[in-house]
Amino acid sequence: MCGLVGIVSGELVARRLMDALRRLDYRGYDSAGIATIKGGRLERRRAPGKLLNLQQRLDADPIDGVIGMGHTRWATHGVANETNAHPHVVGDVCVVHNGIIENFSELRKDLAGAGVSFESETDSEILAHIMAQSLARGEKPIAAMLAMLSRLRGAYAFAVMFRSDPSMMMAARFGPPLAVGHGIGEMFLGSDAIALAPLTNEVTYLANGDCAVITRNDVTLFDAHGQPVERARQLSEVGSYLSDKGGYSHFMEKEIAEQPEAIARVLARYVDFSAKFVKIEREMNFSVAAGITISACGTAFLAGCIGKTYLERYAGLNVETEFASEFRYRELPFPMDRVALFVSQSGETADTLAALHACKASGIATGAMINVEGSTIAREADAVFPIVAGPEIGVASTKAFTCQLAVFACIAIAAGRRRGIIDAAQEQELVGHLIEAPRIMREVLSEIQLQIEDLADRLVRVPHVLYIGRGVSYPLAMEGALKLKEVAYIHAEGYAAGELKHGPIALVDKSMPVIVIAPYDRFFEKTVSNMQEIAARGGKIILLTDERGAAKSDLPSVARIVLPHVHDIIAPMIFALPLQMLAYQTAVLMGTDVDQPRNLAKSVTVE
Ligand code: F6R
Repeated sequence: MCGLVGIVSGELVARRLMDALRRLDYRGYDSAGIATIKGGRLERRRAPGKLLNLQQRLDADPIDGVIGMGHTRWATHGVANETNAHPHVVGDVCVVHNGIIENFSELRKDLAGAGVSFESETDSEILAHIMAQSLARGEKPIAAMLAMLSRLRGAYAFAVMFRSDPSMMMAARFGPPLAVGHGIGEMFLGSDAIALAPLTNEVTYLANGDCAVITRNDVTLFDAHGQPVERARQLSEVGSYLSDKGGYSHFMEKEIAEQPEAIARVLARYVDFSAKFVKIEREMNFSVAAGITISACGTAFLAGCIGKTYLERYAGLNVETEFASEFRYRELPFPMDRVALFVSQSGETADTLAALHACKASGIATGAMINVEGSTIAREADAVFPIVAGPEIGVASTKAFTCQLAVFACIAIAAGRRRGIIDAAQEQELVGHLIEAPRIMREVLSEIQLQIEDLADRLVRVPHVLYIGRGVSYPLAMEGALKLKEVAYIHAEGYAAGELKHGPIALVDKSMPVIVIAPYDRFFEKTVSNMQEIAARGGKIILLTDERGAAKSDLPSVARIVLPHVHDIIAPMIFALPLQMLAYQTAVLMGTDVDQPRNLAKSVTVE
């Protein structure tokens, strides 16, 4: 989603603003702009499309100044053109905004009634108009800002600077994250610590409702009641992870390849290797909980569906999974003896955060499984389970998914032990299998590459693909389909194999590839029966199975990928690899923008 950056300095800022925007471009955007103030002039350059277009404008017509702001826009109100791109300027006031102002129509109507005319179709422009009107009435900037905040509804993180006062910038946050970065003789503002990483690693996150006044040497914060407030400075860890492509063609390719290392990091954090037991520092009270509700969006939700099977099987817990966008509006009373667990790579997803707030408001114990430490969801949940995947830059989630699975496995084992469902010997056995995962993943990644390229060559020519599986392979089928849709723009659906004959089988004909995920587990024979039904209707089966499954005769597939046979607890992590690789290779052949697929954003901070 949109990203913003601001710099208040004694040095020129335009080049650094562009560098910071490049670091934010992983979030997904469709136009961009920057503005600076110099010698009483406010200079602005904006361009639709990628940052390259904006850079070309700046090369042709540079701007300078020692205070400035930049923005990448993911269109909500109004198409992605130059006029709708940020920054928006009205008179003395320059604004960049992330989020959605929900009472935008009402505010716009009031402004129009007062004779204001609008340049853009955006909700963001109204912020500049409201501020400009207040300043024209003689109000001081901070009073104008606090008065405006009291009129806004919705989700926002925005920054304002003033042509007539280049010594300061103001910012406010309600919903999407916003961090102030502390430099030496200069201060920064950014949507996340990744944008700020080359500038500083010392950050202060604004809390919801906060407003900030930033000068070269200081930041003054006000809370939602307009009272001065202190917020802790933190050291961001982003800089300790590499976030360049490291020789790979795309971040997605790099992040797929990084998975063995990422899972090893998860295990180093959650497992005692010598005694083979799971160590979880801050556990939720799973031992007394009657059940768990897991809530998340997209890929994180599908990781939750696999996590559910671990928690049921190894910890005997009753688990429900629900999309956060639905869960947040549930009207059912939530039993106090259940706990709620939220899964989010970014830790900023608006629906997941709202679902967390709903549970907190009811006094329910909450846990968060997040990748970005210091994110809003991480800060607000009672217990935090970091997935330590390192920055995930590709919009399509890959390594975060398998790390979420590994953390779920660890949580389930720890909860199972506390609840007396598994004993020490069983725990040691399960941990022994988990420890094997990084090595097996490494082998699989190198061994199946050529076969994946052949399969991608088949998929590139088809308009639709079905993915099916049973048990954990059902959420995996949905994840495989989601990946293919996202990055290769091929229509794909993931189904529970047993559901096929209740409808989707009508789609099966000679032209329909069906990717069957069938490890040799307790569902294998049933899935084989479903394969026979597909083959009988001319469907082209691409089988993902393991050595034991492949040894069974009579499997009607046109192509197959055979993986090592592994224990159920690591099978989803291993079987996720060919699904991710296939989507990636197909996307490369299709020539799509793999790391920033059209219409998608990495961090979905609006509802
Ligand atoms: C798909 C994908 C999305 C995210 C979803 C939740 O590849 O990345 O479906 O999983 O938007 O995002 P987080 O995990 O940041 O809450």
